[in-house]
Amino acid sequence: MLGIRKTGKKRGRIVNLLVLSMLIVGTIPLIISGYNLISYNAGILDTDQKLLHLQICKSVASEVALFLRSSANIITPVEKSVEIGFVSDNPSAVFYDSKTRDLITALFQSHNRIINIRVLYLNNRGVQAGYKIDEASPINSELMDTIQRCLSSDYFHISRPQYSEDFNQVLFVIGKTVLINNKIQGVITMVFSMADVMDTVRRAHQSSNTAFVLDGQGNIILHPEIRVIRAEINVADSPIFQELRKLRSHAISTFPFTDRSSGRPVDMLGTVYMIPDSVVGWGVAVQTPAEVANVVIQNMRRQTVYWILLSIILALLMSFLFSQQISIPIQILTQKTLSITDGNFSERVDIRSNNELGILAENFNLMTEEIEDYIKRLKQAAEENRQLFLGAIRTLAAAIDAKDPYTRGHSERVTRYSEIIATELGLPTEEVENIQIAALLHDVGKIGISDSILQKPSILTEDEYAVMKQHPELGGNIMSQIQQLKHIIPGMRYHHESLDGSGYPRGLKGDEIPLAARIIGVADAFDAMTTERPYQKPLATDEALEIIHRKAGQKFDRRVVDALAAAVSRGLIDLPNPEDVKKPRYVTSN
Ligand SMILES: [Fe+2]
Repeated sequence: MLGIRKTGKKRGRIVNLLVLSMLIVGTIPLIISGYNLISYNAGILDTDQKLLHLQICKSVASEVALFLRSSANIITPVEKSVEIGFVSDNPSAVFYDSKTRDLITALFQSHNRIINIRVLYLNNRGVQAGYKIDEASPINSELMDTIQRCLSSDYFHISRPQYSEDFNQVLFVIGKTVLINNKIQGVITMVFSMADVMDTVRRAHQSSNTAFVLDGQGNIILHPEIRVIRAEINVADSPIFQELRKLRSHAISTFPFTDRSSGRPVDMLGTVYMIPDSVVGWGVAVQTPAEVANVVIQNMRRQTVYWILLSIILALLMSFLFSQQISIPIQILTQKTLSITDGNFSERVDIRSNNELGILAENFNLMTEEIEDYIKRLKQAAEENRQLFLGAIRTLAAAIDAKDPYTRGHSERVTRYSEIIATELGLPTEEVENIQIAALLHDVGKIGISDSILQKPSILTEDEYAVMKQHPELGGNIMSQIQQLKHIIPGMRYHHESLDGSGYPRGLKGDEIPLAARIIGVADAFDAMTTERPYQKPLATDEALEIIHRKAGQKFDRRVVDALAAAVSRGLIDLPNPEDVKKPRYVTSN
């Protein structure tokens, strides 16, 4: 990640923490309130569904009850008329009681629901008004049954409703025994159309709520679909009827059940209600498939979940945006801090904020300014120390060079050539600097060589030369006292070694000779050849290079020789002015 240094330790991002915190704070109450809202609304909708069932049940039941009561009431005047005629006249004259016939005719004409009215006496004589009932029709069977019942023991009977093909309506029969002086003298029957009640049942059939009326034996006697009535379905074994039988008058029950009438189980919600004041024990049932009853609840639940999810997404988005406001400045600060640890003290942060982050950024900038200033002063001090040190060793080198007029400026020149060669070889700056110091001090061991040998104007004897050859080892020993310069000692100590092992002081070969020593050795030889010596005139650059080239691979490192040649060809080597070198007074080794 940007600005985060790899440490192997797994680190979290502050933006993730912030987003998570804001999300938890924002969404948990939302989810809890949403869950409660769903439960609360589901309860309300469930209650609403039950109330709707109750309303339908009561509406149908009251209509049916009112219909039955008013139908039964129509018999009353007929009954009275029959009684009056029976009492006041000879029974044989009653058979043709025109008043009763007029009455039932008037009743038929004034009530649409009346299909047929009959008054029958024990001698099978009587009067009737209304439409003719087909003797083969089911309603006629009910009519006959009612007559038989009333003449035997029932004083009042309401038949099972039947669908009539002739009238295309559901009909039922009410029969009442004519009792005179507690003796059965005849029966009054009325066939009614249930068209008005059917309308009520059909109207109640809405939104998958099916209302129907059951008789006391579990027969479906009224149903919004005529085909159900015609099929004469009995549901005595159904949970609906079982529940209805448990009820008392005016009691109501709503319950879930499984309907298996269609062959496959269907979960339903049902409500049953006893028709009040019903002498026939009829009840009303309303049922709704649970799937339909729950669809509103499911829609509500879906809508609520949808809005909650939308709110969570918005909360996530907003929390991410707000978190960015905090995390981005922190990321910038982290990045800048890492940059400073890499040594880039000029880094500053630009965070314009009025909160604590703005103050932190200002303090950060102040701190880096202080650090940068401090580091700058430290560097200056270090540079001054370095210059002081270099000045000291230059002075030391110059003092040694001054012991022999022929070698005046020798150490400085060897240093410059060594630097040029090392740079040409592409060595790192730090190594080039070490080679420079080693080159400056390469002949420091001559401090321990007697002036009589150093300044001897003639050829050295073998013994004197042996002493002279000690100077690299002496120089190394002197410098080994300074802990901080130990790393430059090999460059000094071995600058007279040869690749073929013929050099001194150790007779090292090839790669045993440190690169610094090989560079200083070539630079030393080049300066010796190009400056005046007791035993030679100064050679031209080409001549010196030619001699050195010839010894490449034997005495000198070929890469170092090539680097010197390349530097010469590019004009990097300036030979010293011969005037600056004193006339020879002594013969000596370099
Ligand atoms: Fe030397």
